Amino acid sequence: MSESGRSLLDSKRILTAFVVLGAVYLSIKLFRIIKNTYQARHRYQEIPQLPRHPVWGHLVNMGEKLNPTLQRHPDYAFEEIWNSLGKPPAFLMDLHPVDGAFLIIADHGLAEEISQPSATFKYSLPKSDTLMAMYRLIGLESLIIAEGEEWKVLRRRFNKGFSPQHLHTLDWLIISKTQDFVERLKELAKSGEAFLLKDPAQDLTTDIITTVAIEKDYHAQTLPDGIGSKGSLGLLTASRLLSKLVYPVGRGFDPFVYFNPIRPVKSWFYEQVFNRELAVRVREQIALEKNQTEEKATSTLQRSITRLALSGLDPDTALVRSTVAQIKSFLFAGQDTTATLIQWMCFELSKASWSPAAAAIVKSLSAEHDSVFGVEGGPFNALDVLGNTDEASRKETEAILGNRLPYTTAFIKETLRRHPPAATARRVPDLSPENPTPVTMRMRTVSGEERDVEVNGLRIYSAQHLIHQHEDIWGPDARVFRPERWLDEKYMSTIPTGAWRPFERGPRNCIGQELAMVEAKVVLCAVVRGFEWEKIGYSGKSQTVDMGIPRGDGKDDLEREVWHINQVTSVPLDGMKMKVHLKR
Ligand code: HEM
Repeated sequence: MSESGRSLLDSKRILTAFVVLGAVYLSIKLFRIIKNTYQARHRYQEIPQLPRHPVWGHLVNMGEKLNPTLQRHPDYAFEEIWNSLGKPPAFLMDLHPVDGAFLIIADHGLAEEISQPSATFKYSLPKSDTLMAMYRLIGLESLIIAEGEEWKVLRRRFNKGFSPQHLHTLDWLIISKTQDFVERLKELAKSGEAFLLKDPAQDLTTDIITTVAIEKDYHAQTLPDGIGSKGSLGLLTASRLLSKLVYPVGRGFDPFVYFNPIRPVKSWFYEQVFNRELAVRVREQIALEKNQTEEKATSTLQRSITRLALSGLDPDTALVRSTVAQIKSFLFAGQDTTATLIQWMCFELSKASWSPAAAAIVKSLSAEHDSVFGVEGGPFNALDVLGNTDEASRKETEAILGNRLPYTTAFIKETLRRHPPAATARRVPDLSPENPTPVTMRMRTVSGEERDVEVNGLRIYSAQHLIHQHEDIWGPDARVFRPERWLDEKYMSTIPTGAWRPFERGPRNCIGQELAMVEAKVVLCAVVRGFEWEKIGYSGKSQTVDMGIPRGDGKDDLEREVWHINQVTSVPLDGMKMKVHLKR
């Protein structure tokens, strides 16, 4: 045979081998999908669920409700399903053969089971693998997704910086950043224009996190381009775009987003921008810490959370890389969530202009602020009182923010109960030689019996939206915004542990919860007596307790309450469109 004939034969052989290998691979994949689908159909049949299609499981009837084109968070779809199933403590959502099976939890007791340590899972159930969709945003070594001893080391390293004692040394920073927020609101009040509260709120939380975490002030609030950070190649642009590029898990399957070839390229690009800028900042922090270890910290010059975490460690490349991942995680986990909390607080304040109940709430808040800060200096005096930095005033600020604002704290807790910005998703590993112990959960089954049901192989979503508004726990007014409930000792003694979990609970609870609470308190003290809020668009004016679940298809009543959509965390649908006025 000629040389060219032989090479043609070789190419044919190679091609055939590829085709055969490809066919084998696809057959194995298909076999696995069929096997998993078949197993899931039989394995979890005792768990309450919607009727299942023999092939498409819950994809069809869940898909209608989770429809990604609907402008609403999956929590509302879960609520519809939960209601239709007679409000069981947990129910199944089986997305085989396209995805896995999920257990949706609506009961505080089951939520406690998955978030507290157990004999099998020392630090509680592992986080769901669906969180990996965010790995470019938060880094592969993020505290949010790390497991086992690796997680423990990271958590211990950063706990110091987020402890109340250390955070109170940084109160003055939070207060000065909130002053910028107030000035911006005053400008907006002067202009009379409608604006999206999300923008100033996110800029505020960004400024706070970057200054307390890495001592870097990007001036997101005070400079239009945040010293370059809001430019096309800036850190804040990268962080916010990466958040938008994460595939929205739990919103049904959208092939145009899932298979979009540009999405991974863009994500990779912005990840590089993000990583490069933060690596520079981390190295700066290491150098500062090294130079100043001898220097005694004064009450105003304090160490950032990162410096405290890195103190005494060898500054090698691995440490820089890991620390970059943690700062990315703080920016992601603390920026939108706290900004969302601020937006909902102002939304609840906005109701005072038309609702006597809300006006009474604002009156109680104002009375508390008058009594703590006095009236001298006008309605914006709170930040002046809190911002004094001499030692005695600093102690006073710590005491005020610690325990002298009970009604303000109740207002924040009630906001987080009614409008929780985040949640947890876990996974129960399937049975295998490494995981030989079956995991069971006691739940109401389809037959109505309470029984231990095996949950291995399931992903678990703890739906705070359902747990926080369960009438069996919170009473018939569970859906009413009523901060007073938190101050009613008799009522609160009936609320079981774990029924309020906006920051989740157990070892994997939110490391930044103290910081978020302090930020929220400072913001409320700064805005309540000086501003009046006017919600534009969805206002809540015609909301009734039984108005039901938002449709999200553009046909909702404009006078109903604004609701959440899913942008990795749960954020208000319309960016919280508002006008703000100076109180007369
Ligand atoms: C209102 C504000 C906030 C809410 C509602 C909130 C809520 C949560 C929730 C529900 C979790 C558990 C997530 C999971 O299990 O996957 C969590 C974890 C976490 N949060 Fe927050 N968070 C807030 C603010 C913050 C802030 C300000 C920071 C940091 C600057 C932060 C950093 C983190 C981190 C690093 C974790 C992972 C902790 C771990 O797994 O050890 N959060 N947060």
